[in-house]
Amino acid sequence: MNNKYFIQTYGCQMNLHESEKLAGMLKQAGYVACETPEQAGIIIYVTCCIRENAEQKVYGHLGALKPYKMKNRDVIVAVGGCMTQQEGAAQKLHSTFPFVDIIFGTHNLCEFMSLLEKKRNQKKKVIEITEKWSESECIPMARNSYPNAWVNVIYGCNNFCTYCIVPYVRGREKSRKIADVVSEVKELIAQGYKEITLLGQNVNSYGNDILGEEGAGDFADLLDAICEQVKGDYRLRFMSNHPKDLTERLVMAMARNKNVCHLIHLPLQSGSNKVLKEMNRRYTREQYLEKVALIKKHMPDCAISTDVMVGFPGESESDYEDTLDIMQRVNFSAAFMFVYSPREGTPAAKRPDQIDAEISKARIMKMVALQNARTAEYSKTYEGKTIQILCEDYDKKRDLYMGRDEYGRMGYFTSDKNEIGNFVNIKVGKTNGISLYGEKI
Ligand code: SAH
Ligand code: SF4
Ligand code: F3S
Repeated sequence: MNNKYFIQTYGCQMNLHESEKLAGMLKQAGYVACETPEQAGIIIYVTCCIRENAEQKVYGHLGALKPYKMKNRDVIVAVGGCMTQQEGAAQKLHSTFPFVDIIFGTHNLCEFMSLLEKKRNQKKKVIEITEKWSESECIPMARNSYPNAWVNVIYGCNNFCTYCIVPYVRGREKSRKIADVVSEVKELIAQGYKEITLLGQNVNSYGNDILGEEGAGDFADLLDAICEQVKGDYRLRFMSNHPKDLTERLVMAMARNKNVCHLIHLPLQSGSNKVLKEMNRRYTREQYLEKVALIKKHMPDCAISTDVMVGFPGESESDYEDTLDIMQRVNFSAAFMFVYSPREGTPAAKRPDQIDAEISKARIMKMVALQNARTAEYSKTYEGKTIQILCEDYDKKRDLYMGRDEYGRMGYFTSDKNEIGNFVNIKVGKTNGISLYGEKI
């Protein structure tokens, strides 16, 4: 039997982390990772459905896999992740790609090994999509993002922004206990990890669902607990924040705990009050700017990054200008910019006033150009400065080591020894767009 596995992951950090859990279970059972699907005995796709193009990619790759699977019938092909959890999606996958052996939902990840066994025993296709969250956490994990490690703090989402599919495919909010998160972080730091990224769709609502239970607290309490109980030279990051739930308590906890990086990812989505209301974001542009001011009050150096969207149904030219206006005022250190993509089953997808693709395209292009210019300008302010970066990888193409500073900026440098996992001071020389190039000092 071919005991090699190949996992292809699409989508966000949550999914990358879920793939580490799958890899951990497979490794424990004696399987080994391989580089391409054509070498593997088990091929797993961990999918995303946040925008249509995310789904198209999965369909494309699955289609391309068909000839290989037809020639190698013993190879097991499995599809999991957010796409499978959408209503009717498993059936659609099943009929479009009948050669897929296992389809498993987002809540069935930890059962993967038993689904695999079931498939091997019964020879029939296995489809397992559970609606309800199961309590089990899967361990061990085969992490592959050293020196960073991802740690889930809250699963699911309760917000139901009108454009977003996540609450339908990830279920309701479920927080882990402070003590469980702290002990996971403690172990990771003891193993030598240098950066911990706490994950949640909205970390600011961490703890709400377990309020009053023993050992519960909010996200500020969680940051305090980690920093008090886990000492050492490491960085603590987290994402994402929701502007409606970001509190001064949290900003103060960030400011007082030295391990916490001064970077907040605070998705704006739109700068228009009309659009924000229709998105069900539950804040106004004024309130968003107040949160920004609050962050700057306690941490004047704090970088703020964001997600924004163009082409939400009914978005007028002046709504769009309002978004550009906030982007200019806040001067985001980075912005992930998206064209709205209708997601079946969400309220916004049913609206008759969808925006013409050509209009959205023009809007996104102008927005990206403006943000790129701003980012390049911001990079220039780094020239001549010395920054500390955590070396995370070696870029073969550029023949340079790379890593980020506290604020998330990517710096490149040369070294004659392996620097991955080291904190390195570099003096920034030239800059190019978002990238900084420096000399190790
Ligand atoms: N939970 C996170 C975001 C998860 S999705 C948060 O609320 O910040 C990441 C980003 O994808 C969102 O911030 C949003 O900008 C974008 N997004 C979500 N649904 C989308 C859709 N239907 N079309 C286009 N972009 C979308
Ligand atoms: Fe989606 Fe909104 Fe939840 Fe983020 S907060 S995952 S955008 S519903
Ligand atoms: Fe993430 Fe995509 Fe799911 S963004 S939560 S993998 S829909």
